[in-house]
Amino acid sequence: MDDLSKQSYWNKRFLIEDSYEWFGDCLRLYPILDLYLKSSPSFILLHLGCGSSSLAEEMYNRHYCHLILNVDYSFCILDKRRSIKKNECLIDWFALDIRAMPLRSEYFDTIIEKGTLDVFFIGHEHCLWNPSEELKEKIDLILTQISQCLRSDSGRFISISFQQPHFRRPFLAKQKYQWSIQVHSISDGNESMEYFVYVMTKGEQMNEEDRLLEEGKSTKWTWINKQESLRQITTYYVDEQDDQYLLNINIEDNE
Ligand SMILES: C[S@@+](CC[C@H](N)C(=O)[O-])C[C@H]1O[C@@H](n2cnc3c(N)ncnc32)[C@H](O)[C@@H]1O
Repeated sequence: MDDLSKQSYWNKRFLIEDSYEWFGDCLRLYPILDLYLKSSPSFILLHLGCGSSSLAEEMYNRHYCHLILNVDYSFCILDKRRSIKKNECLIDWFALDIRAMPLRSEYFDTIIEKGTLDVFFIGHEHCLWNPSEELKEKIDLILTQISQCLRSDSGRFISISFQQPHFRRPFLAKQKYQWSIQVHSISDGNESMEYFVYVMTKGEQMNEEDRLLEEGKSTKWTWINKQESLRQITTYYVDEQDDQYLLNINIEDNE
């Protein structure tokens, strides 16, 4: 099976791929991106894990920003994308591993990523209700750097992801990032693919629910990180013909 979490996978893929858009046509993103970027365009925008996406060019053409820096750790795609760029665009491509970003603090108005953070969750899908410390640290390292690079007054981090809010939100909800969190959902016409746009705004307070989430007191979002306290798990099945369908799981915490 292909391992999208490996740099070698992307290097090989970009040898033959010139253009591909994860999550499909960017058109569906515009109603949401307009809310944040149309009336107050960014001066400088950083696009993490750009791959062979045209998102930067599209955002530039929609006047969302004056200057865009695309970064990716897979070198071979950078020259390819640069060679098809229209000369008048203030867009450029650089090699950068987002796990170590030696970038200026409080410099970017907007940082955006589409499907790039998702790659770090590959191989951890089975344990998202109870993520490992290793995964939490890996994501925290990236988010800490993103937060540091954002302008402290209303710098924005926009993250476009397949991951549902109950899994992603606990990673994002930390006071130390100094941002608020908004979540928008997008689905294609026939509802078969749903994905999410997470918008973090620096300098704004997290809402009460996210604060409770960080303290482990949220009733809405939670990581099940106290496995040992789960004493009783009741499962309800319904028999339909010869198959048993799982109807419900009831977890009672006896502590
Ligand atoms: C799922 S693709 C998304 C590409 C593009 N953003 C899009 O929406 O079409 C993930 C991208 O993240 C890049 N990537 C993965 N890990 C990275 C890392 N540590 N540093 C920089 N780029 C990374 C890959 O090379 C790939 O281009």
